[in-house]
Amino acid sequence: MDIAVTPFEPSDEAALDDAYRIFAAAQAVDAPDVPAGDRAEFGLVAAHPPYGSLIHRALARHGGEAVGYLWLRLPQLENTENGLVEIFVEPAHRRRGVGRALLAYAQEVAAGHGRRRLIAEVGGVPPGVDRQAPGEAFAAAVGAQAALPMVRRRLDITRLDEALLTALHEHARSRAAGYRTVAWRGAAPEEYVADVARLEGRLLTDAPTGDLTVEGEKVDATRIRKIERFQALRGRRRYHLGAVHEQTGRLVAWTMIQAGPSTAWHAWQEITIVDPTHRGHRLGLLVKIENLRHVLTHEPELRAIDTWNAAVNDHMVSINEQLGYRAAESCADWQLTI
Ligand SMILES: CC(C)(COP(=O)(O)OP(=O)(O)OC[C@H]1O[C@@H](n2cnc3c(N)ncnc32)[C@H](O)[C@@H]1OP(=O)(O)O)[C@@H](O)C(=O)NCCC(=O)NCCS
Repeated sequence: MDIAVTPFEPSDEAALDDAYRIFAAAQAVDAPDVPAGDRAEFGLVAAHPPYGSLIHRALARHGGEAVGYLWLRLPQLENTENGLVEIFVEPAHRRRGVGRALLAYAQEVAAGHGRRRLIAEVGGVPPGVDRQAPGEAFAAAVGAQAALPMVRRRLDITRLDEALLTALHEHARSRAAGYRTVAWRGAAPEEYVADVARLEGRLLTDAPTGDLTVEGEKVDATRIRKIERFQALRGRRRYHLGAVHEQTGRLVAWTMIQAGPSTAWHAWQEITIVDPTHRGHRLGLLVKIENLRHVLTHEPELRAIDTWNAAVNDHMVSINEQLGYRAAESCADWQLTI
């Protein structure tokens, strides 16, 4: 089959229209319970790329029609031998080599930038379902390894157990003497931004990384401000809750829930991290419960929160299960040596 792969710039609105159409059609089939967001949100994400990365985009065309979309991120500050890749093929045009053509293009661009491996978060199937998702079959067929098994869990807000949350909160509070909590939306208060940077910098290597080849990020307050800025420009609403060690005044635990501009019913539970020297005080549980209440006071239409965890991250998984999160999808981060 004759497939042409051509790069495009984020200022090319017609190409973005095609990319969005392909992405949304794939999402509707592969992860129908996760919202794709609307075209305007897709445009905002393209216009405001992640800090410290080069982004390459390409469309695969067959007979003039755009049928596949590639997004490739090349980190510039660390992990400079890695490329992060997403490939989407229109459901009606699958199994004709479009995915392979986009991957070959991604490998060429990545190798040209000195990258030695590609990493992709590949969606799977609900737990207990005995078949491979197309992305898993594709990743295995091209020789990638499932380097970090993950599970997506969902909290159904319409079925929250308030009495249980209150009991868990009281339990966490009783173990957290000497700590107070602080909540904010959007940008971190100036007095805590250096602590947020320290905690964010630990995240990539504190959480399990399995067989992925990744290094920690060097994060300082300036970098946090840049991240906050592009996320705000993307229209993201970010709810944060931290625990402060009263004796030192330092923020030692932090969690964040993020909602997008086009989907009021859905949000993502992102980062949760507790400074290693302050673990064992139920701070993870404490900040998560309080942040759940924080987000619900501002997001009355919220019905579901999703979160990803490494399958082996027992501690975080147990906190999430206690709060009522339930497994919705088993998936993995795949790694391919170029
Ligand atoms: C994964 C995806 C990109 C594959 O696109 P595609 O154009 O169908 O891929 P190709 O036709 O190049 O397939 C290459 C090989 O992968 C394997 N493969 C792909 N989809 C498969 C499926 N549903 N079942 C079994 N094997 C599959 C096959 O070995 C195939 O070769 P073959 O058709 O000659 O047997 C597409 O299904 C998709 O958009 N999925 C959702 C997003 C995603 O998971 N992306 C991948 C991670 S970035």
